[in-house]
Amino acid sequence: MPSASTQERLTVIADTSGVHTNDLAREVEAGLSSSPKTLPCRFFYDKDGSVLFEQICELPEYYVTRTEKEILDDRADEIATLLPKATTLVELGSGSSTKTRVLIEAFLRRHGSLRYVPMDISRTMLEESSIALLEDYAGLQITAIAAEYKAGLQRLEKVQPPAKLVLWLGSTIGNFDRGEAARFLRSVSHTMRPQDRLLAGIDLRKDRSTLVRAYDDGAGVTAQFNRNILHRINRELDAEIDTSAFEHEARYDENLGRVEMHLVSNREQNVRIGALELEVSFDKGETIHTECSYKYSIEEIEELAARSDLCVVERWFDDARRFSLNLFRGKTD
Ligand code: AVJ
Repeated sequence: MPSASTQERLTVIADTSGVHTNDLAREVEAGLSSSPKTLPCRFFYDKDGSVLFEQICELPEYYVTRTEKEILDDRADEIATLLPKATTLVELGSGSSTKTRVLIEAFLRRHGSLRYVPMDISRTMLEESSIALLEDYAGLQITAIAAEYKAGLQRLEKVQPPAKLVLWLGSTIGNFDRGEAARFLRSVSHTMRPQDRLLAGIDLRKDRSTLVRAYDDGAGVTAQFNRNILHRINRELDAEIDTSAFEHEARYDENLGRVEMHLVSNREQNVRIGALELEVSFDKGETIHTECSYKYSIEEIEELAARSDLCVVERWFDDARRFSLNLFRGKTD
């Protein structure tokens, strides 16, 4: 049967309103001038960093991706039956869209055609994965949005589909503190009409050693991923950081329920960042805090839902209960 070419089924919308160019410079200057020193984790994801993250997802210690995939494999058909026929799949931070395939297939099996709206900050990744999907699935139409969440959600409000399932997978929510997560989800819930749903993958609290190993793997891939932010500063901000002078460290703060990633200076040193005309000094053992990854108990998920004007419709777990997939609807009262 003849089918429309992949190009005809693809629309790419790039958000040009962002002032991303100076973003890194500004944030690095602020983060390395503060005490304790910090760098925002969203800067991990340049081309190299995105490749490293894909590798992390395959690591034996990094249970997050595998367990979520296990749940999706089990439940995709059930999820498709819970949504109306003309549902559009919208995905926040779609990355390579690998895990989404099982859902796409389930919706296509049920309804024959599907519109998919992946959103991601990496335009390259977005275009490559969209083309791959269109080549594999003839019934698919893609509107890809290259933007940060906020701009992406604003775009979405303008193209209200008859019904939508918003996907927020991989426990990306973990990078937000609990207040930010609630605020962000509330802004998502306010784009939701009664028939719309949100499907969020949320990592669960668990024992310390499992968590620390997941963020400090034996092969050192996560260490490379963490240090990539220094390479990026070297490349993009004309700096000369000796990346081997910083050790990767993963810590679990049980009170806060979060894993933290740090880069620990293994000696006293000064670091020059040319583009900022800035010199940053480090004590031996001083750290740059690069990432938080929050973990949730069931009570914390319920609390999050309440603060976000969402209600839990269904919740699924993997066999070992390491990860949760949560289907929410908006609060109607
Ligand atoms: C993409 C935020 C879900 O926190 O598990 C993986 C990022 N950092 N290993 C996570 C990450 C180190 C990841 N998220």
